[in-house]
Amino acid sequence: MMQPMDPHENSSRDLTIVCENLWKIFGELPKDPDSLLETLDTVHLSKEEILEKYGLTVGVHKANFQIKKGEVFVIMGLSGSGKSTIVRCLNRLIRPTSGRVVIQGKDVTRMTSRDLRTLCREKMGMVFQNFALVPTRTVLQNVTLGLEIRKIPKTQRLQKAREAIQLVGLSGWEDKYCKQLSGGMQQRVGLARALAGDPEILLMDEAFSALDPLIRKQMQDEFLKLVRIVDKTIVFITHDLDEGLKLGDRIAVMKDGRIVQIGTPEDIVMHPADAYVAEFVSAISRTKRETARDLVSDPEEWVCTLDDDPVSLLEKMRDQDYLGLLVIDDQDNPLGVLYRDMLRSAIDDKGEAVALLDLVSKDMITVNQHTGVDELVAQAARTSIPLAVLDRKNRLAGVIPRSSLLKELAEMI
Ligand SMILES: Nc1ncnc2c1ncn2[C@@H]1O[C@H](COP(=O)(O)OP(=O)(O)OP(=O)(O)O)[C@@H](O)[C@H]1O
Ligand SMILES: [Mg+2]
Repeated sequence: MMQPMDPHENSSRDLTIVCENLWKIFGELPKDPDSLLETLDTVHLSKEEILEKYGLTVGVHKANFQIKKGEVFVIMGLSGSGKSTIVRCLNRLIRPTSGRVVIQGKDVTRMTSRDLRTLCREKMGMVFQNFALVPTRTVLQNVTLGLEIRKIPKTQRLQKAREAIQLVGLSGWEDKYCKQLSGGMQQRVGLARALAGDPEILLMDEAFSALDPLIRKQMQDEFLKLVRIVDKTIVFITHDLDEGLKLGDRIAVMKDGRIVQIGTPEDIVMHPADAYVAEFVSAISRTKRETARDLVSDPEEWVCTLDDDPVSLLEKMRDQDYLGLLVIDDQDNPLGVLYRDMLRSAIDDKGEAVALLDLVSKDMITVNQHTGVDELVAQAARTSIPLAVLDRKNRLAGVIPRSSLLKELAEMI
């Protein structure tokens, strides 16, 4: 992710998408709609009033924004607020009523259909909520689909598709039929298909909204990893502010076709522009009653067993800058903590003859999946080793490193 941007520092070269005074009105419009648009802009009528008075539906009401190269730009708002309409104007799936959309310096609103097609195929990828996969084709066949249309030679096609499949974590599933996959996996296929064409711009419309909460969170985490690897400009649509805050470098909040605020996650949370945005923000702070279950991560890199080689464990702790590891038995039951300094002195003393069992210290801090964030913070303050999260059978289900707890806390403010 990038740093929050200062609009005065941008050279237009760095701007990938510029939207200027964009209007989309659905319905029978007068031949020259400008004066009507001016009226709509100055007289403050609600969408319902406009529909009643003019028989027109406002999709987008004079939207202005600029998206910088490499940015994840989130468009957030309630259902019907105009998010999809904006995205469809970006690739001209629908024609704006007025205003300009400029992509990489080219005015999309004035482009010939042929140039537009080339631009969309070569520079833009799309991911939607309903994955639009061909159920009777395999994962690999679905991912190569877009490349076939672009007439990319077969060997190259397969190579690009396999790379994309690997990026979304589906290696090994290439030959499965899409109808055999879960929703989360189908969504990955959709993402892989968009990535396979190596587009500079990704448009994602409610890409994760159909997934159940745990899979959704997992996809969001993977999305964050992915954006660090691939250098793409991403327009991400969601009606979930929580998701927007987590994924976006900046967020545009929409209401009734208008963009009511554009800002970094911090801006939106700390300085909501109006009562509408404030309402969204207060709703998330209410639901942000998180527990260990929401913060837990895979314990793998933090654990060791009594059979491990002491010297490599010490090296690992040095390399990772870990002060200690959690020791588990072969049933995943946690035994305690192996502190780096204790291990080092033992190795200095006894060399290879070190018995790890003698070094296990019992002061491990355990929590369960329902422990609340307040308690987690209090516990984490007592230790430099991750908290051990136990499942119902008291096996190690995961860890919460202090750093991720602090990060989460910072995001919750
Ligand atoms: N093709 C269309 N014809 C007429 N009205 C439309 C059309 N497409 C969208 N609208 C209207 O434009 C407004 C914005 O719709 P849009 O689909 O952009 O909202 P959205 O924010 O994407 O909503 P959702 O979260 O439900 O997807 C709505 O009032 C919708 O009814
Ligand atoms: Mg929509």
